[in-house]
Amino acid sequence: IGYQQQFGLDSTLPTDEEQGGLNDQIVINFSHIVAENTPKGQTAIKFGELLEQKTDGRIRVVIYPNGMLYNDNNELNALENGDVEMIAPSFSKMTNTLPTWSVLDLPYLFNTEEDVERVLTGPFGEQLLNQLGRFNIKGLAFWNNGFKQILTSGKPILASGDFKGLKVRAMPSKVLQQQFTLFQATPVATSFDELYTELEKKELNAQENTISNIYSKGFYKLQKNLTITNHGILGYAVMMNEDFYNSLPTDLQEKVIEAINEATAWNFEHSKQMNDKDLESLQLLSDVHINTLSNEEQQRWQKLFKPIYDDYRKQISETFLEEIEKEIN
Ligand code: LMR
Repeated sequence: IGYQQQFGLDSTLPTDEEQGGLNDQIVINFSHIVAENTPKGQTAIKFGELLEQKTDGRIRVVIYPNGMLYNDNNELNALENGDVEMIAPSFSKMTNTLPTWSVLDLPYLFNTEEDVERVLTGPFGEQLLNQLGRFNIKGLAFWNNGFKQILTSGKPILASGDFKGLKVRAMPSKVLQQQFTLFQATPVATSFDELYTELEKKELNAQENTISNIYSKGFYKLQKNLTITNHGILGYAVMMNEDFYNSLPTDLQEKVIEAINEATAWNFEHSKQMNDKDLESLQLLSDVHINTLSNEEQQRWQKLFKPIYDDYRKQISETFLEEIEKEIN
């Protein structure tokens, strides 16, 4: 409801119509946790613009970036309860609710951005999104951020042994956490909005994240060793409260889907460029040290990560793993 209704001020304040606004305008509040200048931040803006254009302003999308409305710990509840209409958490953060989704977190599963796009925008991605129906959630799309890298405050990571004894921030996904326990480190599932302060308090030695998140949130100011590992991907499930979606007239539902599809295509076209551009900016900083994991070490990591695949196969789903491997190879 608008401010006027909320505060019972109808008689004293001009109505939306008197102000030249649209009386029956529908507002979609879209909450997310990253900076605007990131693949998710920019794609959310793109989606809002497209939808407003397509509906001639009948729908307005109001975006709340940087966790200003909800954070990792409360956004999913807010969506299910209809307190917010849209969120786009990483799929890793959905794996406690939907364990099969952790197939996307398997390290070194994806080799190229093209593979990521084909899987996430094809029938496999659709199958995953359909699982959200049980939770009063309409799964609209997957968006990409890019490949994750390793950032450390102490010495750089050049081999798996360098992780020994470190506290590593990883998102709350069993697969992601297992990567670091296998390397004898301790994973810590710090909420994204608290990460910078935890780094300031020197509570964490390392983290995995994409270049765009590392750059836009200034994590590189506190952790100055970056190793390009490309060991996993970060992507997002773009989700809408299902009751809200169902309450829209059919023509507006169609516009939402059209706008999402166009925004998704835009996302896959631009996410890599955004990460590449931020990498160039980091390369210009003399106090940020950038290494690339050697091919031999990468092959060692792949072997060492094998138990994570075995556990997924045994404990979660052999079929999902087979299906996704078929899509990729
Ligand atoms: C993280 O928690 O590191 C990421 O999920 C943040 C994001 O949404 O990109």
